[in-house]
Amino acid sequence: MKDYKRILVTAALPYANGPIHIGHLAGCYLPADIYTRYQRAQRRDIKFVGGSDEHGVPITIRAMKEGITPQQVVDKYHTLIKDSLEKMGISFDIYSRTSNPVHHTTASDFFKKLYDKGLFEEKETEQYYDEKANTFLADRYITGTCPVCGNPNAFGDQCEKCGSSLSPEQLINPRSTLSDAVPVKRLTKHWYFPLQHYEAWLKQWVLEDHKEWKNNVYGQCKSWLDNGLQSRAMTRDSNWGIKVPLPDTEGKVLYVWFDAPIGYISATKELTAQWADYWCKEDTKLVHFIGKDNIVFHCIIFPSMLKAHGDFVLPDNVPANEFLNIEGDKVSTSRNWAVWVNEYLEDFPGCEDVLRYVLCANAPETKDNDFTWKDFQDRNNNELVAIFGNFVNRSLVLMHKLCGGKVPVFHAAAVDGDDQQLMDDIQSAKIRITQSIEEYRFREALYEIIDLSRKGNQYLQKKEPWKKAGVENGQQQIDNCIHLSLQLTANLAIFINPFLPKTSSKMLHMLKVVERMLDWKNAGSLKLLREGYALRAPELLFRKIEDSEINAQVEKLKANAVAGSATPKGGEGRLNEAAGIPSSAPQLKPEIVYDDFAKLDLRTGKVVAAEKVEKADKLLKLEIDLGFEKRTIVSGIALHFKPEDIVGKQVVVVANLAPRKMRGIESNGMILMAEDKSGRLHFVHTEDEIEPGATVS
Ligand code: MF3
Ligand code: ZN
Repeated sequence: MKDYKRILVTAALPYANGPIHIGHLAGCYLPADIYTRYQRAQRRDIKFVGGSDEHGVPITIRAMKEGITPQQVVDKYHTLIKDSLEKMGISFDIYSRTSNPVHHTTASDFFKKLYDKGLFEEKETEQYYDEKANTFLADRYITGTCPVCGNPNAFGDQCEKCGSSLSPEQLINPRSTLSDAVPVKRLTKHWYFPLQHYEAWLKQWVLEDHKEWKNNVYGQCKSWLDNGLQSRAMTRDSNWGIKVPLPDTEGKVLYVWFDAPIGYISATKELTAQWADYWCKEDTKLVHFIGKDNIVFHCIIFPSMLKAHGDFVLPDNVPANEFLNIEGDKVSTSRNWAVWVNEYLEDFPGCEDVLRYVLCANAPETKDNDFTWKDFQDRNNNELVAIFGNFVNRSLVLMHKLCGGKVPVFHAAAVDGDDQQLMDDIQSAKIRITQSIEEYRFREALYEIIDLSRKGNQYLQKKEPWKKAGVENGQQQIDNCIHLSLQLTANLAIFINPFLPKTSSKMLHMLKVVERMLDWKNAGSLKLLREGYALRAPELLFRKIEDSEINAQVEKLKANAVAGSATPKGGEGRLNEAAGIPSSAPQLKPEIVYDDFAKLDLRTGKVVAAEKVEKADKLLKLEIDLGFEKRTIVSGIALHFKPEDIVGKQVVVVANLAPRKMRGIESNGMILMAEDKSGRLHFVHTEDEIEPGATVS
């Protein structure tokens, strides 16, 4: 191991084209934060940088979908993402954005330097062009069938089904995502970075010098390198992005994957005047936290760019996580099959640490994992409440009951085998927890912490200090038991701090100690709390999560997945994510019989009032006149319509849908909407205006 003087942690810059979901947290933000908080507790020199990725096709496609400008898209989602990350306790030293001027300069200069060194190949080639939309089609502007796995909705840069990295030319039956047109070829000039020149060096650097990288990361790199590398265009035809810093390049910008990782450098520049220490001194440990779809960019392409540039350090490690599925199904933002962080924060106020806990305990560190609400509830109730919280609470309650609210004296002469065992357990846990975190095995570390608190419970259970009053040496036994339990509680506060920072703060408060106690070097000590020190009354660290809360979440997930877009489960027949445009051959839902249909009571109605639902950017609260009554219906159409524009509109309502609470408002029914190719929504209504309340069948 190298002797590092400072650490620079980065977490992938999320595209500012939508809110973040819990898969983002589990993939990179949470592990990066745990690692950073741990290193801070070690009092090491560490900086944690991130920001929003505001360029590239994902942004422009989103803008088209929402009918707003790319600038409006990034402004809106940058703010939303930043807020969610902050509330979840992701403690960036800076959370920047790639639209900042310092980034534009940094990325341009980087490009210019490689250009001046003569490292790019300038090539004029034929590329796909959409004659309807008058634009070249790269990356996600083009879709077609994946040549590797046959997925009919692969993108021009990647197949999200099998993970293959693709170029538009490889797609079978390519189509434009903009217009669905069959593209033609046209000449255009671009600057290519010859990755193959770095192949030999990469083989040495990754495959020989970094055998310690995680298996999933190492394996992906090896397969890339075994397959051979090719030149890759580092510019695009587009008006959204960083302008190519060369003469006569109107309409050309840097490829988003060229500029985005340079964003780590720009953010560090913005953070500190000492930025060059972190980026240019060999004794910096650079660690990139990412999700698995970013591996090639962080392990092959960006390092080659850094190497070519020459001034910067290379990553020491890239601990990428795999994916987190939800309730057994792959996350899909187009199907709205996701747990959105901003919504979680609203639905479970004060439970940020619970989500951090569950996502870490079940982190997809070595393979894809599944998040289920049941598991969320079980882990909260059976682990946080029943083990960790219970131990801390019992220690404090017993101290107040049996020791007058003060840390009792420790009688060294009266130590027995159980006391000794507990003391040893604390020591050995520290060694294992430390090593696991250093080696990016956060689940394992967290497991050790819970296990240590479980041992605390077993210790109390065995010692039964509440039965010792009046027996011989009874008070000494009580004192030692409570003293050690409290020292263990203080140790747990140190250990849990990187994982559950709010919980740790609450513990510090109860123990009446200052934050300085959280120094990692204090972990393992049995002298954290002074004898005779008066502590505060205990507060519960966690609350039980009820079945009803979990059921509501599962229902919401399912209801929104269907209601958000009438898409068959599995997402086939529809482009995913950024594109959100149906392919030519939609797959229908399974066949139903007439009786299934007859169960629906559809009625005509009229919107008589509409308003935004506070803190829910997708929802409108509508007042619908059904003739025989007025109904409140909450509808997820706020991104598509302004409230004032839809008052007076005719609608068709599912009138016998069971009521459902959304953001505390009871919704009684659903409005039928049609979604066009571009993802825009339209009201369904009768050709002539008729009385509200008419049946539709
Ligand atoms: N925006 C990319 C994504 O969400 C990640 C960019 S990471 C960076 O997949 F290194 F390029 F910044
Ligand atoms: Zn594929």
